[in-house]
Amino acid sequence: MVKIGIVGARGFSIVSAVKAMPEDARITAMCDLDTECLEKAKKEIGLDDSMCFRVYEDMLEKADIDAVVISTPMQCHVPQAILALQAGKHVMCEVTAAVTMDELWWLIENVEKSGKIYMYAENYCYMPSVQLVRTMVKQGLFGEIYYGEGEYTHNCTELRNWHGKTGWRSYWQMGTRGSFYPTHSLGPVMQCFDDDRIVEIASFSPGNHNPYGLRNDDLTQTLCMLESGKLVKIRVDTISPRPHAMTYYQIQGTKGCYEAARGLGDVDKIAISTDEDPDGCNSWKPLSDFNHLLPDRYKEGKGEGAGHGGGDYYIVADFIDAIKTGVQPELNVYKAAEWTSVALLSQLSVTNNGRIFQVPNFRAGMPWSEKRIKI
Ligand SMILES: NC(=O)c1ccc[n+]([C@@H]2O[C@H](COP(=O)([O-])OP(=O)(O)OC[C@H]3O[C@@H](n4cnc5c(N)ncnc54)[C@H](O)[C@@H]3O)[C@@H](O)[C@H]2O)c1
Repeated sequence: MVKIGIVGARGFSIVSAVKAMPEDARITAMCDLDTECLEKAKKEIGLDDSMCFRVYEDMLEKADIDAVVISTPMQCHVPQAILALQAGKHVMCEVTAAVTMDELWWLIENVEKSGKIYMYAENYCYMPSVQLVRTMVKQGLFGEIYYGEGEYTHNCTELRNWHGKTGWRSYWQMGTRGSFYPTHSLGPVMQCFDDDRIVEIASFSPGNHNPYGLRNDDLTQTLCMLESGKLVKIRVDTISPRPHAMTYYQIQGTKGCYEAARGLGDVDKIAISTDEDPDGCNSWKPLSDFNHLLPDRYKEGKGEGAGHGGGDYYIVADFIDAIKTGVQPELNVYKAAEWTSVALLSQLSVTNNGRIFQVPNFRAGMPWSEKRIKI
């Protein structure tokens, strides 16, 4: 039984998942600066006063917990993750992993030193459509994948914290230049490129035309070159006035392609050539025609009711599984660092007219010479 402490109100998103696995996990503590959130935790999770904390360090010290789910604003993630690891707790952390490059190295070093599980809660990787496309990629239905695209268009200008006040998003998403919130776009696409690594990025923007005085550009396009020479493009746009489209993806391979729905009746779709239908790549079919290829566990319906099409159940299940087996999850600290670094380097690139920046090699055991930003 894994006992979990949550920090940050967004952690309520895991409550239904944890309740659906009563043998394996339980939420035994909640921490939030906001007392209303703690009142909600008492009602919705069934915690008592002794399990609720306003000060994070108090939760780490006094609560009966094995793991922490970090769901506070982005700038809190690394300091809170390091404190948890040093207190001997496993960590699952919301996106993005960090807000500076140094924080990424501190995080990796602390995960390695602690021997504890660190899971990056990039839940978009767990959405059923993303999992289905990934299975089709693995089965070779699109041939060899050489291009991917992800877009996160989410007009956050009206988003305030849950009391309607200006919150951290104004500084760390709309107040910081570059693709500062990239991993909902990158994660699902990178999962289609096996273990390929992002080695270079360059970011471009159309400038800043927003009337709100926000510092970020209207949007940022970031090109990511992979070690194999293949290409990924992401658009992060938290300002433009337009309908949300947070999960738009494209995958292109030698036999065909996938494109997510973009709105107004559009559906997720694929076009692929097969031996029986060599011209198949020239016409769309609904992705749902291939639902039978969904990973088996997604057919069992355990994720029903959980957020992001049920994906929020499976991400918690994998975190618990990693703790039980002692094996770091697929969305480990190295992936968290690589994907998050795209945000941090894109800030440098877009403020230097699209200059190309090399992505440090964050993977295990890299020498000091790899741990610097190269132009
Ligand atoms: N994966 C997703 O789909 C998804 C969706 C939304 C938000 N997020 C991520 O979740 C995190 C939170 O986002 P949000 O929109 O819920 O933010 P929010 O501002 O609405 O809520 C943050 C909560 O954290 C609490 N908090 C802040 N600092 C704290 C501290 N030091 N100690 C204890 N509590 C503290 C605040 O009181 C507040 O209740 C962010 O990292 C964001 O990127 C992820």
